[in-house]
Amino acid sequence: MFDLYLSPPHLSGEEQELVADAIRSNWVAPLGPYVDAFERDLGAYVGEGFHALAVSSGTAALHLALRLAGVSAGDRVICPTMTFVGSANPILYLGATPIFVDSEEGGWNLCPQSLKKALSGAKSRGERIKAAIVVDLYGESAQYQEILPILRKEGIFVIEDAAESLGTIDGGRRCGTFGDLGVLSFNGNKIITTSGGGALLSRDKALLDKARFWATQARDPAPHYQHSELGYNYRLSNLLAAVGVAQLRRLEERVTQRRQVFDRYETALRDLPGVRMAGLGDQGGRVNRWLSVIDIDSRRAGVAPMDVLRTLASEKIESRPVWKPMHLQPLFSGCEVHSIAARPYSESAFERGLCLPSGSALTTDQQDRVIRCLGAAIKRAR
Ligand SMILES: Cc1ncc(COP(=O)(O)O)c(C=O)c1O
Repeated sequence: MFDLYLSPPHLSGEEQELVADAIRSNWVAPLGPYVDAFERDLGAYVGEGFHALAVSSGTAALHLALRLAGVSAGDRVICPTMTFVGSANPILYLGATPIFVDSEEGGWNLCPQSLKKALSGAKSRGERIKAAIVVDLYGESAQYQEILPILRKEGIFVIEDAAESLGTIDGGRRCGTFGDLGVLSFNGNKIITTSGGGALLSRDKALLDKARFWATQARDPAPHYQHSELGYNYRLSNLLAAVGVAQLRRLEERVTQRRQVFDRYETALRDLPGVRMAGLGDQGGRVNRWLSVIDIDSRRAGVAPMDVLRTLASEKIESRPVWKPMHLQPLFSGCEVHSIAARPYSESAFERGLCLPSGSALTTDQQDRVIRCLGAAIKRAR
């Protein structure tokens, strides 16, 4: 339907060789040497002393992470309101309740002040919060220097949802390593993909071994099939892990390419009235620029993001609104949302944000097409 997509997979060619090798060796059944290699390479990439567990999706990794945190029915879990539903759904899988927290002003990620407000509200009502999911949206790292001490003080287990931020560096550390557990996604639209997949990251090997056990149908160590705990079929197949091994080898290059895409938009859109690049930027680190997002001030630009989306679509260019906050989703109606603002910042971020084609294989000619079309949509409106 489109000929320029938001974030299509970018294959290097090596994937084909490694998948062929997996097939030649007959390791097409679940697990195998590429799963081991992918886990080893992921752990080594994110940081010294880290281990990885490869699973079938980022959502599955979050589900396992919440269970490792001891979350069960009736528990409360902090979650940013502005995120993809995959961050919040696993809270419901366990029968727990999400406590949504607003974004910081000008960004998308968890606002430390709103977080404090949520925690003091819970404390005054005598409610205990079991875990917190902190998300690095659109590749931008959350403000961990402020957030982690707040959560640690209350003894809250921290899960970093780094589904969108693999390759981002903040304060010298890679995203995925800030919480007690980190979660990655290798869904088709991510910076690297296994077509579908995810991973759990931790320094604590025992935690990952427990998750590995649950993810493999919780099969007890017995010669027959014996099960004492509830398990899932969540492991990644060896074929997909072969794709992951090849993709991970190109990750640094993909970060550079996505950052170039972002920089070209930033330069080209500088003079467009009412339009600027959204987010808080590198802040001394390196954002992977998974998606390039623009902020449209409809009054100044004369058009709303949805008008621009329609104009781009008429030229077969895909664009998308930013994630709709969870507290505005019918699925989560009635859930708490905490904000220091009279009107949550996430609501205006949602109204103003538009994600543009950001893939690492986007050529300059293709990007020029997007820029021309965007410019025309705004000039026409004025
Ligand atoms: C922030 C965030 N969390 C969780 C997920 C879920 O990952 P998956 O699609 O691999 O289940 C995604 C992406 O899809 C995501 O963007």
